[in-house]
Amino acid sequence: MRLMNIDEKIGQLNQLSSGVATGPEGEKYDLVKEIKGGHVGSLLNIYGADSTYKYQKIAMENTRLKIPMIFGYDVIHGARTSFPIPLGEAASWDLQAMELSARITAIESAALGLHWTFAPMVDICRDPRWGRIMEGAGEDPYLGAQIAKARVKGLQGKDLAQNNTILACAKHFAGYGAVEAGREYNTTTISIRHLRETILPPFKAAVEAGAATVMNAFNDVDGIPASASKFLVTDVLKKEWGFKGFTISDWNSIGEMVSWGTSRDAAEAAQQAMNAGSDMDMCAFAYRNHLKQLVKEGKVLQSQIDESVGRILKMKFALGLFEDPFRYSNAAREKELLFSKPHLEAAREVAKKSIVLLKNEKQLLPLSKKVKSILVVGEVANSKWDMSSTWAGMVETKDNVTILEGIKAKVDKGTKVYYTQGADPKDDKILSLDTAIMLTKKCEVIIMTMGERAWWVGENNSFANIEIRKNELALMNALLKTGKPLIVLLTNGRPIIMSEVAEKAPAILETWWLGSMAGHAIADVLFGDYNPSGKLPVTFPRTAGQIPLYYAQKNTGRPAMTTSDGKYDGGIYRDVVNTPLYPFGYGLSYTTFSYEEIKVLSDSTNIGTPINVTVKVRNTGKIAGEEVVQLYIRDMVTSATQPIKVLKGFKKVMLGPNESKVISFTLTLEDLSIWDKDMVFRQEPGEFKVMAGGNSDKLIMTSFYVK
Ligand code: GLC
Repeated sequence: MRLMNIDEKIGQLNQLSSGVATGPEGEKYDLVKEIKGGHVGSLLNIYGADSTYKYQKIAMENTRLKIPMIFGYDVIHGARTSFPIPLGEAASWDLQAMELSARITAIESAALGLHWTFAPMVDICRDPRWGRIMEGAGEDPYLGAQIAKARVKGLQGKDLAQNNTILACAKHFAGYGAVEAGREYNTTTISIRHLRETILPPFKAAVEAGAATVMNAFNDVDGIPASASKFLVTDVLKKEWGFKGFTISDWNSIGEMVSWGTSRDAAEAAQQAMNAGSDMDMCAFAYRNHLKQLVKEGKVLQSQIDESVGRILKMKFALGLFEDPFRYSNAAREKELLFSKPHLEAAREVAKKSIVLLKNEKQLLPLSKKVKSILVVGEVANSKWDMSSTWAGMVETKDNVTILEGIKAKVDKGTKVYYTQGADPKDDKILSLDTAIMLTKKCEVIIMTMGERAWWVGENNSFANIEIRKNELALMNALLKTGKPLIVLLTNGRPIIMSEVAEKAPAILETWWLGSMAGHAIADVLFGDYNPSGKLPVTFPRTAGQIPLYYAQKNTGRPAMTTSDGKYDGGIYRDVVNTPLYPFGYGLSYTTFSYEEIKVLSDSTNIGTPINVTVKVRNTGKIAGEEVVQLYIRDMVTSATQPIKVLKGFKKVMLGPNESKVISFTLTLEDLSIWDKDMVFRQEPGEFKVMAGGNSDKLIMTSFYVK
């Protein structure tokens, strides 16, 4: 730092795209000239041993102090080996699986010359109209926090100095998932209470897990754009949580403060963001063009800039880039590590565990591999591109295994597998109805994809209409009329409105977008080689009119109820029941489970003393299966209103036929604390209910008292 002049310091705070824009194009620039001028501390949207080597070399040979650049990229669910979209992976509730997925993502990213990924996205979202719901871990802060930790650990490993570990980035700080009406880039209305209770916990967990970087969100929080929020970036992130890494703005989020109307111009935006503690500027040129003058004018202190530069340099040292700026750019490792067999096997494992069985009337599933003939229907069933969806890193979609390919690879040689396009959700017509009907005559069972096209989710993909499309419903009804058993494979990246499908289709699997090995994973479940174990990480509403709808509802002064004369009354809609189509935590298995007992080891405890809870679960079916045992609590009387249940523990356990296990949980002081009426986080005395079950709706319960 002592050796650096102010231009070199400001250069460290500037990130430029190597060419590909993942946001609105800003001012034109000569990248090589910028690098040679020492104005580039980091590049994004670059990858590959060759190009990373090339650009690093330019910096090493043309800058005075030879400070290495750091390379970042959005590797969100796999680099060359594509894993399920994060919302799909969250449905596995398998923290080891998600850590492994992140570990492999880091190995492949590092082999591609990357030092940093802009993941995990930890935004809590309760509005499926928002396309980026696919990037997160769903609606619940506790589940979201556990998953954030697992993903940060997977990406950063135990030692950033290893050349197969990369910096994680918890994003988007904070509240992007709460955009009003689910409309992309919109404003938010977030009370400090909602911020503390629901939005921040996954970020805090990521920071506690050692996340090296945090990304500012595009949105405003209580009227302040997140990149200029001193409360968020300095008071909470750096001071209260002791965050030692650095923040990166989202694409031009500093420049966009002019559009928000809180900055007169880019110079004022730079001043506000820097004084809020935002360290690095992604592609806004605001720091690059204005910080030096702002220091001269005394509007930004040199010490503030030094604080940001120090944080960034520290991470470059931690990555070992000062010893060897080229250590991640190694073509041999690219060849050896990318898309390897073990990585593909892991992708198949994680994908299988992400599938959720929503319905299985009369045990239609699993199918026998000896089934004589199958008709597969749907444009998506034969689409390679869709399987890895958006934010798909460096995947080569030609390598993705389609659903049709997975089914063909699974069944016996003698099984005939027919295929017809049927319908494509992006069109409003059925492409081959009579062919489909004719083919059903030759088939014993029909497997049909329904839902979205994979590019309908991700950034800039908010939809007001999130229903199963009419052409697919018409096709489904026509196929059901043939009387042949029909299995629906939902292919979607958000909760979808599907009440008619839920009512009429005998069997339904939620298959999300599962990545490179999608077809094999789906076939593993369809034909019983894997007993589905996924649980929904987000509520599926009956109709979009219920949004936002999530399990952690409050009792209110007039809860929905059925009066003595059978009238449904209280806090309700007149036209739709309050309950979701599928609740948070819901998912079936090819076997069944029963929750036989829940016990607290002592029925009262003192403030601050943990409470141990045991839950006895039995597999009451004929085949082995995994169950996600979920633990919820309710703090009965509180100084500020609380939900009637909040998730505070979960364990995924394997149970053999008729096997039972006693699962134990410990509820800690933190688990039993709330943000009280004065916004102090503390445990209040009184009665608690504790509940357990295989989803947030069907729970057994007991209680304990905190003295
Ligand atoms: C995008 C996204 C952010 C991403 C960044 C870089 O606009 O909001 O999640 O990491 O820009 O691509």
